[in-house]
Amino acid sequence: MIKQRLDRIIIRQPDDWHLHLRDGAMMQAVAPLSAARFGRAIIMPNLSPPVVTGAQASAYRDRIMASLPAETNFRPLMTCYLTEDSDADDLAAAYRNDIITAVKLYPAGSTTNSASGIANFDKIRPILERMADIGLPLCVHGEVTDPDVDIFDREAVFIDKVLKPIRKKVPDLKVIMEHITTTDAVDYVRDSRSNLAATITTHHLIINRNHILAGGIKPHYYCLPVAKREKHRIALVQAAISGDKRFFLGTDSAPHTDSNKLQSCGCAGCFTAINTISCLAEVFDVAGKMDKLESFTSLAGPRFYDLAPNKGFVTLTRGDVVVHPDHINTADGPITVFDPGFPLHWRVE
Ligand code: DOR
Ligand code: ZN
Repeated sequence: MIKQRLDRIIIRQPDDWHLHLRDGAMMQAVAPLSAARFGRAIIMPNLSPPVVTGAQASAYRDRIMASLPAETNFRPLMTCYLTEDSDADDLAAAYRNDIITAVKLYPAGSTTNSASGIANFDKIRPILERMADIGLPLCVHGEVTDPDVDIFDREAVFIDKVLKPIRKKVPDLKVIMEHITTTDAVDYVRDSRSNLAATITTHHLIINRNHILAGGIKPHYYCLPVAKREKHRIALVQAAISGDKRFFLGTDSAPHTDSNKLQSCGCAGCFTAINTISCLAEVFDVAGKMDKLESFTSLAGPRFYDLAPNKGFVTLTRGDVVVHPDHINTADGPITVFDPGFPLHWRVE
């Protein structure tokens, strides 16, 4: 049977449910790139120092808006960084006043600027209970940090040792497992009845751990959680293309300058903000599931966050190879753009 091939599709404008915009010169360079492509994005609070209070989130949102063209329609959806000393009243007020959309939980020491994160999960239970009461969602970096746990097992262990107990004790808490990387996480989300969803990044749909480590180390593919075996990547693709509304796009586009990536202890993060939609279209097209792309990029996320989809639409067309720049320049130095390792044919108009 000859399968007819789509060459043009129109979808709702995508959102990015997990994005790092940084601050200062880096933000000036990267924020307009996401704003030109996405309607909204959940903005990560792991600045140094972190965005902990509602007032800090509000000030950060102002700095982001000031870095964008005046006519932008982009809406940064802010988050506060959860610490063991976070003030539940302040978080609740920030949510009520539409300053924040979610709270972010980093286990202490799990990733970039996570030192102020959570070590004792019992300590934050009252805050989580308050969040559940008012419907304030929790975005979770789902990795344990115990040095005895192998880095490739840290997500699966986190689900068993941390997330399951939290969700059992606070079942009404709305949780987004961010940047999932394993079959364990896919199964855990699929088996849940409510209040649980997951974001999947562009790069985790494309690379497995061989891409990082085989034939020479590739620092630009190093991110956290680290990419796992191929069977896990396949499970992520199956979840993304399934149309299941509990899985949606969070790019985790995480810019670091090349000088910070290419050193003896290089930073974690892939910068996908500019070619994400072309990359995803290729992944969905190869799987024969272009009809499910819109759910993943534009519909399932707002549904989980109780927001309307964006009003605008974008047209994707398939044609000659689309070339994206291999790096962008910032006042801090160049940032390398994620290389999917295959040609891209889908152009966003
Ligand atoms: O690869 C990553 N980079 N993973 C994270 O969790 C943090 C991010 C960053 O901020 O650089
Ligand atoms: Zn992130």
